[in-house]
Amino acid sequence: MTQKCVVYMRKLIDNLKSKRCLSREDITLLLTSLDEDLLIYINKVAREATDARFGKTVYARGLIELTNYCRNNCYYCGIRRENKQVERYRLTADEILECCRQGDRLGLKTFVLQGGEDPRLTDNFLEDVLLRIKKEFPNHAVTFSLGEKSRESYQKFFAAGADRYLLRHETATREHYQQLHPEDMSFDNRINCLHELKAIGYQTGAGMMIGSPGQTVENIVEDILFIKKLRPQMVGIGPFIPQHDTPFANEPAGSIDLTLMVISIIRLLLPDALMPSTTALATLNQHGYQRGILAGANVVMPNLTPQEYRAKYAIYDNKKAMFFAVEQEFEELKQQITSIGYHLSNSRGDYHNTFYHV
Ligand code: 5AD
Repeated sequence: MTQKCVVYMRKLIDNLKSKRCLSREDITLLLTSLDEDLLIYINKVAREATDARFGKTVYARGLIELTNYCRNNCYYCGIRRENKQVERYRLTADEILECCRQGDRLGLKTFVLQGGEDPRLTDNFLEDVLLRIKKEFPNHAVTFSLGEKSRESYQKFFAAGADRYLLRHETATREHYQQLHPEDMSFDNRINCLHELKAIGYQTGAGMMIGSPGQTVENIVEDILFIKKLRPQMVGIGPFIPQHDTPFANEPAGSIDLTLMVISIIRLLLPDALMPSTTALATLNQHGYQRGILAGANVVMPNLTPQEYRAKYAIYDNKKAMFFAVEQEFEELKQQITSIGYHLSNSRGDYHNTFYHV
């Protein structure tokens, strides 16, 4: 980059920080001019914005992978229905409760119930589990991450006490959506679900992979503009990682640097957002968790899924910490966070809007 270019980019980033807006052209410019110095600069500015809003605190959410049965056939995902190599499992209500107790002993105040779209996990079952969790842990937050459901189902879970819902939009471009999903899946429905979740009152999470097959810079620009407009309370961004039994087995993994750049841009657009430093980042890079946090992420999601099921929830290859005990993984994560001068919060870490007038 020429000196003039560097000065322009820095001005653009400073402007983004102070005004929280960025044109389509400027986002494109940032993404296409990505080099080491620019990345260091934007990560630093984004981290400063995160420190100003959240201090040195990182929020932890205990992830419970309820089921790897899935009725969908997303080309990128290792637990897609046509992957016959997966040994399928589904936790019982008692096992789920046991995971929550384990998480509580570790000091976690949020449980994330995530899974494939498993028709056998009926609304009644989920409601029942939710009520049991809320009864035993009335001060904990419960996040659902169970895919696309009807508005009635979303409403029912919200009424029963679910606080948050994660549903990555995956891509905000219809044509790209169709490259990632078979014809029986609907882009419109996915986007509509996110609007419904927000309207119902959930703290709602959107997000996407970086470097998924067919993804162009324009697609990422659309994702950023979509997120800016939707203004979700949570945003999950991680690199695409191939899984060997999927149609995308031979596709390259996404770029860590580009992922960190996008995390920083989103952070500067949404200073209040809760953004995980994802396991996918940590899978591709030894210092992935730290790098995500230093780029503006402020959430980590230690895995509470029982050891015997861990490896079966293989949405991509070499998923980090598949073979470690829950406590061991959590300790390691804590240490990594401490090593960069941060600490895990002992609060629920709910979303609070301080920057935007609704
Ligand atoms: N690589 C990275 N992330 C993936 N996900 C699914 N498959 C992969 C993969 N191969 C992400 C999707 C999904 C989330 C739970 O995991 O974005 O929403």
